[in-house]
Amino acid sequence: MKILVLGTGGREHALAWRCAQEIGFENVALHPGNPGAFTDPFVRLGDVLPTDAAALSRAAKQSGISLVLIGPEALLAQDLAKKLRADGFLVVGPDASGARLETSKVFAKQTMASAHIPTASFSIARNAKELLEMATTFPCALKYDGLAAGKGVVIPHSQRDVQDFADRIWKDQEFGANPTHVLVESFLKGKEISLIGFCDGNVFRPLATATDYKRVGDADQGPNTGGMGSISPSPWERPGIVEKVQAVIAQPLLRELKKQSIDYRGILYIGLMIDSGENPFVVEFNARFGDPETQALMMRIEHGFVENLLATAEGKLADAPPLTWSSSHSVYVVAAAGNYPAKPRTGDKISGVPVVESASKVFYSGVKFQNGNWLTDGGRVLGVGSLGRGFAEARQAAYRTLDQIKWDQMHFRKDIGSV
Ligand code: GLY
Repeated sequence: MKILVLGTGGREHALAWRCAQEIGFENVALHPGNPGAFTDPFVRLGDVLPTDAAALSRAAKQSGISLVLIGPEALLAQDLAKKLRADGFLVVGPDASGARLETSKVFAKQTMASAHIPTASFSIARNAKELLEMATTFPCALKYDGLAAGKGVVIPHSQRDVQDFADRIWKDQEFGANPTHVLVESFLKGKEISLIGFCDGNVFRPLATATDYKRVGDADQGPNTGGMGSISPSPWERPGIVEKVQAVIAQPLLRELKKQSIDYRGILYIGLMIDSGENPFVVEFNARFGDPETQALMMRIEHGFVENLLATAEGKLADAPPLTWSSSHSVYVVAAAGNYPAKPRTGDKISGVPVVESASKVFYSGVKFQNGNWLTDGGRVLGVGSLGRGFAEARQAAYRTLDQIKWDQMHFRKDIGSV
């Protein structure tokens, strides 16, 4: 069997790499990938836009692909999964109707309300005036109801912050000329766990737990980013929590999606807040693998990833063998370009890559290769994943590898896995 992994980032590099550990690089295509990811010998599809479903389908058929794993939510939102299914591919990724769990915060909340899934209370603001009237208790969470490239959530601490968010949406039209609604949520306190799982419409089969680091600076200081690192298992996981999430979140959600005639075959990301009484609340759903949690998770899988992807696409998860996990801990540290997350510098020369002779694995996101040099080409440039008998050992290995890599104004958190 040949698999195609769609996407450009470190997450897709990690997913494709994991598949290749099980079925060989010659059976894993990555598209479009990035020049760093192609330091691993994945199959290439050629010059095809991933958004051009017909051309992609032709190229994938020519390469003998039967299973497609869609990485980013933007492709799911364009209903690529449905188009590829109609062309005869097995696909891991929900149709656009199911992806609304991620692409519409309002849809996700309404679905949770119908299924009695524990989550923060909410109201929906349709314009700036309503937003200012509704967001009066601080902190709270404001979530733009649409794709916002990771910039659609703010935690305001004052009316001034609310006004700033309203201006970005309705005055500056940062998220488009026809802004949708904003969800105003009460603030959830607790410990965050990401639980990502395979979902075949009937069964939710979770991977191991993970936790990501969202703020740019050590000790969670500074602005939010797309993720500065991740660890697995989550240090906040306690016995019984995954079973509780199955019972009060995943199963009711699947029943509710079925009621709505949504056959959800893909990856379900459940962002959880665990309160002091060990009760899980949903912070968000995503219709894809988390980034960068995936990179930490892929390091720990020993067997069964490809079989579970296939079973997800076929609707046969109940019959698939369980994944087997290394008992090791994993730490994944992201290194970012100068001035990330505001307006990242690009074009800085990277030394020390590709890394040779290392027990760690480098997953690339924002790099390019030009005139014999590796250059930064995005905010999150690359990340280093390592395993260890505990977080301390894994941290040591990851930072040791990262020390070999340098570019001007490179920055990364020093406290990933320091729990
Ligand atoms: N790490 C959070 C996300 O992937 O959305």
